[in-house]
Amino acid sequence: MKTALVISGTSDLGGEIALDLAKRNFSLQLTARNPIDLQKLEQELISKNRIKVSTFRFDAQDIQSSSTLVQNLDIIPDIVFICTGYLGENERALRDREEMLRIIDTNFRGLAILLQGLAQKMEPVGGIIVGISSVSGERGRQGNFFYGSAKSAFTTLIDGYRHFYSDDKLKFVTVIPGFIKTKMLQEKTSGLMTLSAKKAASIIVRKSLKGSHKFFVGGIWYWVMMIIRNIPESIFLKLKI
Ligand SMILES: NC(=O)c1ccc[n+]([C@@H]2O[C@H](COP(=O)([O-])OP(=O)(O)OC[C@H]3O[C@@H](n4cnc5c(N)ncnc54)[C@H](OP(=O)(O)O)[C@@H]3O)[C@@H](O)[C@H]2O)c1
Repeated sequence: MKTALVISGTSDLGGEIALDLAKRNFSLQLTARNPIDLQKLEQELISKNRIKVSTFRFDAQDIQSSSTLVQNLDIIPDIVFICTGYLGENERALRDREEMLRIIDTNFRGLAILLQGLAQKMEPVGGIIVGISSVSGERGRQGNFFYGSAKSAFTTLIDGYRHFYSDDKLKFVTVIPGFIKTKMLQEKTSGLMTLSAKKAASIIVRKSLKGSHKFFVGGIWYWVMMIIRNIPESIFLKLKI
């Protein structure tokens, strides 16, 4: 039986990824800031599927929790999904250093520390590490550039790891979702451009297991972001997007 580690298993997306993997008969290792929050998901997974589930604490703002998690992983996972994310309040982060650092630490610094530990642990046996980034990392925009810049750095980090390990058994997948209906965006998005967490999870799991290197979730986002990235700066500055 293969094992999958889902970092931030209590996220709406991570929970759906865990359910999808359980149906594929993976044993699961799940993390959350507070493992008590994981108990409901753990019970659901165990009652519906005959799989082994173990839970761990991981807080991206707590460096020690990365080392403890990596040390405590009794079984080296075959695949890891990193689903941690904090959108934060961009306006607040302009003046509140704590908020700015929470966004940077949660979306980048804490995950870079975790990746370093996981890559060292998995390197001898190989495996797949999937990082969930965001279209927000594709171009700096007025509404969310603290989150976007941290996601941009995370995209580059996963891309760089993949390049570095390209001749190795350890593989890295960069996932760039567009809008997904989860508690992160609450009611801010709807319509055709927004996927359910279940649909997004099924795309992410399927493509990651199939050997994709990097992909947008919701194929239209590839084209949308290609246009957005290429709008000349003088025009972009006039747009309220
Ligand atoms: N929803 C979208 O439209 C969208 C679009 C592009 C990318 N994404 C990315 O998709 C991933 C999943 O997010 P989601 O949409 O499912 O939203 P979500 O349900 O709000 O999940 C965010 C997760 O991040 C965890 N988290 C926050 N701060 C943390 C910290 N300091 N340490 C560890 N974990 C922390 C939360 O933990 P708790 O459970 O403890 O609160 C939660 O599990 C994120 O990486 C997000 O950036 C989402």
